Amino acid sequence: MEVIIQPAAQAAELAADAIVALVDTKPDAVLGLATGSSPLAVYDALAQRQRAGEVSFSQVTAFLLDEYVGLAAQHPERYRNVIDRDLLCKVDLDPQRVHSPDGLAEDIPAACRAYEQAIADAGGVDLQLLGIGTDGHIAFNEPGSSLASHTRIKTLTAQTRADNARFFNDDVEAVPTHCLTQGLATILSARHLVLLAQGQAKAEAVHQMVEGPVSAMWPATVLQHHPHVSALIDEGAAARLQLADYYRETFAAKPDWQGL
Ligand code: GLP
Repeated sequence: MEVIIQPAAQAAELAADAIVALVDTKPDAVLGLATGSSPLAVYDALAQRQRAGEVSFSQVTAFLLDEYVGLAAQHPERYRNVIDRDLLCKVDLDPQRVHSPDGLAEDIPAACRAYEQAIADAGGVDLQLLGIGTDGHIAFNEPGSSLASHTRIKTLTAQTRADNARFFNDDVEAVPTHCLTQGLATILSARHLVLLAQGQAKAEAVHQMVEGPVSAMWPATVLQHHPHVSALIDEGAAARLQLADYYRETFAAKPDWQGL
């Protein structure tokens, strides 16, 4: 795993560089999108790159990581609506090519199978953006998630519901109890994983992800099994890393040609 300790603004530019380079060589690339606060600066950077004429997303296909179960189609916190606001209204990505698990499906297992099939039919995800929860979840794979899991329904932990209450007027009861989420094996099947984390609240989860033993108790540790992970974290999120100085030296000496 490549760990890059940079302020959020610089991290966003590095992630945007990687996405622009991918779409340059493969205009019909498949992107994995994350919701939450962590990737917002990346989305703004991508919008800026498009305005500058550096890139077009018109042929790109995208898949969201996860979705709440039971939120009405028009609910502003339904992730499919969140990504409209955070990204789709700013770039030329075709909304018809942006897919999310169907949190309103009557047959949830069938919807999860269909989502996995849609990702496979698209040729798999080229570059997946990720955030990380304070309990070490990625997408909505909570502690205890199978490291071999695929898209399925999960129950949110009390900690995640409390963390996400800020999006629901600080009313934890308004946060859904269930979600559909890509599994850890689904995420590992993407070809390049770019994880963003900011702030000290993420420091323990980031430490476990990078330096802890692989364990379902810290689901993000499964990323240690992936050959191409770029973890872009700010000083706060890096606060507990044992090898922080080594990661800094490595980035300072990174070959110019390498990219993420
Ligand atoms: C949320 C999302 C994740 C996200 C994580 C961190 O619950 N399901 O995809 O990465 O928790 O969120 P944030 O980026 O807002 O800190």
